[in-house]
Parts: sequence; structure tokens; C-alpha cells
Amino acid sequence: MSVTADLCKWAADLAREQLEELPRRWKHTQGVARQAEHARGVVDDPDLLVAAAWLHDIGYAPDLVQTGVHAVDGAQFLAGLGVSDRLCGLVANHSCACVEARHQGVMIRWPDERTALRDALWWADMTTTPNGAVVDVQRRINEVFERYGPNHVVTRSVAEASDALIAAANRTERLLADPIQV
Ligand SMILES: [Fe+2]
Repeated sequence: MSVTADLCKWAADLAREQLEELPRRWKHTQGVARQAEHARGVVDDPDLLVAAAWLHDIGYAPDLVQTGVHAVDGAQFLAGLGVSDRLCGLVANHSCACVEARHQGVMIRWPDERTALRDALWWADMTTTPNGAVVDVQRRINEVFERYGPNHVVTRSVAEASDALIAAANRTERLLADPIQV
């Protein structure tokens, strides 16, 4: 499979191929892609946002695990397919993955672009439950705490990242409410 002109379809097909065997992750991924579709009007490259939404959790696919930090494993897999550095960077850094990577001693070789598009990807992820339903960010964060328990590295990472996650989501929600700012 190669990166085709229809980036969104390519990304959706690749995500399905890798994640369908993990039904909850696949439902979540489909929900994040739906949320991303709602944010097309507030980013500079809407197809890139939607493609990143489809691919952001691909590193959870059992065959792709290398470092154990799913954002990095996904980005490394995508880089091997010839995906652009920008898309790899969005996946590698999504939803403050840098914090978990630091806790795990894993380097992220792509920069976090800190743009409206990056915020919109974080917003889409942080407003979608594991089952693909829409939820507000604080509830999503609380759900992660409950799911992983107090001592898990994911819980500690999300706790440390929560201000940044909420800020990114708030910036996107402001743009969605008033897209004229874009
Ligand atoms: Fe996700």
C-alpha cells in the first residue's frame, strides 16, 4: 500500500487494516475521525487533520509495538511507509504524548507543531470516548484515570498533561464557535 492522492481514504483504510482486530480502539478511532471532520473549517489542511485522526492511535496495533509509547510507534511505522514528516509529527506528539514518552525514556524525533491543526487533533481525541462517543475533555481525562488506575504511567502522564490538553481543546472550541478568526 502506498500514500495516494486521497490521503483521508488511504489513512482510513490503513487504520482499519491495523486496528479492526482491537474493536474498542477501532471504535474510538472512527469517533475521533468523525470529530475531526467537524473541525475541517478551523485548520489550514483539513485532509491532513482527518488523516491524522484516523492514524493517531495506529501504534496500538500489536504488530507495530516497538517502544511501547503508541504515539511514537505509530509515527515510526508511518515514516517507514513514506508518510510526510508533518503527519508523523502530529501522530508522534498527539495529546501531549511527549509527557508519556519522557516518563518511558523514549525520544520523539518529530517536533510538536503547536498549531490550530495540532490543537484540533488533540481536541478530537480528547472529546471521544474509548467507544467512539462524544464527551467533554474533563470527563475524558477522568475516564482515563479510572481505566488505568492511580499508579499507571498513562494516568500520571495524563495528569501532568491535563492543563495542556484542556487548553488545546478550549482553543479549538473557541475557533469552532467563531471560525472567522482562522
Ligand atoms: Fe486516541
